[in-house]
Amino acid sequence: MRLMKPNSRYLNIGGELDMKLAVRYYSRGGNTKKIAEAIAKAVGVEAKTVSEPLAEDVDILFLGSAPYAFDVDDEVKKFIGGIHVSVGKVVNFSTSAAVKSTRKYVETLLAEKKIPVAQEEFSCRGAFAMLHKGRPNEADQKAAADFARGIIS
Ligand SMILES: Cc1cc2nc3c(=O)[nH]c(=O)nc-3n(C[C@H](O)[C@H](O)[C@H](O)COP(=O)(O)O)c2cc1C
Repeated sequence: MRLMKPNSRYLNIGGELDMKLAVRYYSRGGNTKKIAEAIAKAVGVEAKTVSEPLAEDVDILFLGSAPYAFDVDDEVKKFIGGIHVSVGKVVNFSTSAAVKSTRKYVETLLAEKKIPVAQEEFSCRGAFAMLHKGRPNEADQKAAADFARGIIS
């Protein structure tokens, strides 16, 4: 039996965390991959690329992407379009050189699938050409891990 507390934390009768989580990301240059791996480690699942469709229902999907010429890659769109399981909510995360995040590029697609997008999201700078050298750095990865732990607590 599963109880749902107001803050969306799921507890078994035994008090164990019982939330189904998944992490998917798309990363051309490795920046978003670093954040995906920090988030996945923090919540105890494996970070997988968007080439791996969701195989089962999840309560929270951490979905990572980066903008390329003011949009996300078609692989991200294909992944969202191909979701055929129940997703409680998506928590967006992204790295970018200039825009705040990729949320606006994915939320319309997710709305079409009737998948809610959490208000909370994680975004940080990602190195691009001469900009933001070394980002995401260790502090970014730690912030991402703390963010993810906060989401599931
Ligand atoms: C071809 C290309 C286009 C980009 N366009 C944008 C953009 O429109 N807005 C932005 O903020 N960053 C842009 N960037 C920067 C990337 O979003 C940023 O470097 C990001 O961290 C890359 O993530 P990745 O290494 O996971 O692919 C662009 C980068 C590339 C290579």
